[in-house]
Amino acid sequence: FSPEQFQQDLVDWYRHQKRDLPWRRSADPYHIWISEIMLQQTKVDTVIPYYYRFLEAFPTIEALAEAEEDQVMKQWEGLGYYSRARNLHHAVKEVAEEYGGEVPDGKKEFRSLKGVGPYTAGAVLSIAFDKPEPAVDGNVMRVFSRLLCLYEDIGKQSTKSTFEAVLGEILPLTSPSDFNQAVMELGALICTPTSPGCLLCPVQEHCKARAAGVQEELPVKEKK
Ligand code: ADE
Repeated sequence: FSPEQFQQDLVDWYRHQKRDLPWRRSADPYHIWISEIMLQQTKVDTVIPYYYRFLEAFPTIEALAEAEEDQVMKQWEGLGYYSRARNLHHAVKEVAEEYGGEVPDGKKEFRSLKGVGPYTAGAVLSIAFDKPEPAVDGNVMRVFSRLLCLYEDIGKQSTKSTFEAVLGEILPLTSPSDFNQAVMELGALICTPTSPGCLLCPVQEHCKARAAGVQEELPVKEKK
């Protein structure tokens, strides 16, 4: 497994094949942040109309910081996991008050905001600021379980840090934004939960599970 060739093949594919998603048309860290919070427990197709409506109602950090909580909740209605909206609103007020309305680009600062966990921090800092931070969720663990033939149980809490360390080694210093989004895209379009589409996979030559013919066995996820 050669990280450099893998990164290049994956990112080349992403640049040609990526879906035209609304948050990919924006470089505004606030927009990226909203999208990542919405996408954490909700599918892309469901998120898209909410993303547009939410940003129409609250186009800037200031607008969201000044909004009443019930207005914010009204825009979130139907998306579920409502603590996401309450935490986001709280965090955006912190950004308005403590950072002059600019989303902080430091890991420590961004991570300290309400509702911002390791995944959200990694995703926003890499996508919006091109920082070399891993963004590990279930999709990313599935993809790398297969690529590297890792039999760690992805249902276990401790496995996430294993994958964060693995990704920390593989993450390129150039274009971490495209790299992280390319991994997400591979997980969404090709290396899907039920049937890995190895024949169409841009990195099939790099995949240890495919070489061993065990892609259908991975990832390991013990029933809780
Ligand atoms: N899932 C989580 N983050 C995503 C993103 N930025 N694009 C597509 N799917 C995602």
